[in-house]
Amino acid sequence: MKKFAIVTGASKGLGRAFALELGSRGINTILVSLPGEDIHLLNEEIISTYKTSSVFFEVDLSDYDNVISFTKTINDTYSIFLLINNAGIGGTMKFGDASVNLVNKIVQLNVMAVAVLTRQLISNLTAQTQSFVLNISSLAAFNPVGYKLVYPASKAFVDSFTKGMSAEYRDTNVFFSVINPGAMPTNDAVTDRILKQGWLGRITQLLPQDVARKSLNKLFQKKRPHRFNPISELILWVLPSRFKLPFLTGIVKREFDKP
Ligand SMILES: NC(=O)c1ccc[n+]([C@@H]2O[C@H](COP(=O)([O-])OP(=O)(O)OC[C@H]3O[C@@H](n4cnc5c(N)ncnc54)[C@H](OP(=O)(O)O)[C@@H]3O)[C@@H](O)[C@H]2O)c1
Repeated sequence: MKKFAIVTGASKGLGRAFALELGSRGINTILVSLPGEDIHLLNEEIISTYKTSSVFFEVDLSDYDNVISFTKTINDTYSIFLLINNAGIGGTMKFGDASVNLVNKIVQLNVMAVAVLTRQLISNLTAQTQSFVLNISSLAAFNPVGYKLVYPASKAFVDSFTKGMSAEYRDTNVFFSVINPGAMPTNDAVTDRILKQGWLGRITQLLPQDVARKSLNKLFQKKRPHRFNPISELILWVLPSRFKLPFLTGIVKREFDKP
């Protein structure tokens, strides 16, 4: 039976880079995106370029019932040896200006979907000779900051959850890993944000294709994840923690102070 890798949030950004990188390695893919994101075009591109098997599902993963029905279909139909929990959203604004719907969506997608997808697929993953789970956290996981709503806290969840799972499954055939990249110019909003962050944004930004390739290299060797942010990490390491939170919050605040 053919084995597949699932990539959530595959239509653009880092998820798209993962999907193309997997295709280039001859790995069959299941691409997941929100409806209306033209995921069928990427699916066709992968099949025609790499001659792999690829299918796509249009699912809003911020909805618990959708996650349950999607994973039931997957478990009934496909053997999964790699799950990449990539889909994730954030927002930069004053907490009181954010709609409750946005706050809930970030928690549902970044926290609920990661945990529930993993729980629903764990038997499928365990049934393969060797399987992998790669969760996409963020540098924000280690750095609480204002004006980012629940995003940094949600990424701290992803980091913590993965490390716990990694310990629990250490002597099994399922290898868990988490990556914590810094800013990537994946879409207009993030690119604009990087520009507004000035010199720090410019010298620390990462390319999604590099992140995808280096992450998969380390993952398949069952090695510690690639260190993507040596400059950012150094800056954050040397800053005393009592300065770090106001410093980072000031940088983020510049995003909506600048026209
Ligand atoms: N860009 C950065 O600077 C950065 C830095 C560190 C970590 N990350 C993390 O890397 C991951 C990918 O980020 P990105 O910047 O490439 O993405 P993005 O361009 O910001 O788009 C958000 C991603 O989440 C997916 N998504 C959004 N709502 C969804 C929903 N309700 N159901 C299913 N999928 C949904 C989107 O997929 P579809 O459009 O295909 O539905 C898209 O792949 C995220 O987890 C993000 O937190 C990003």
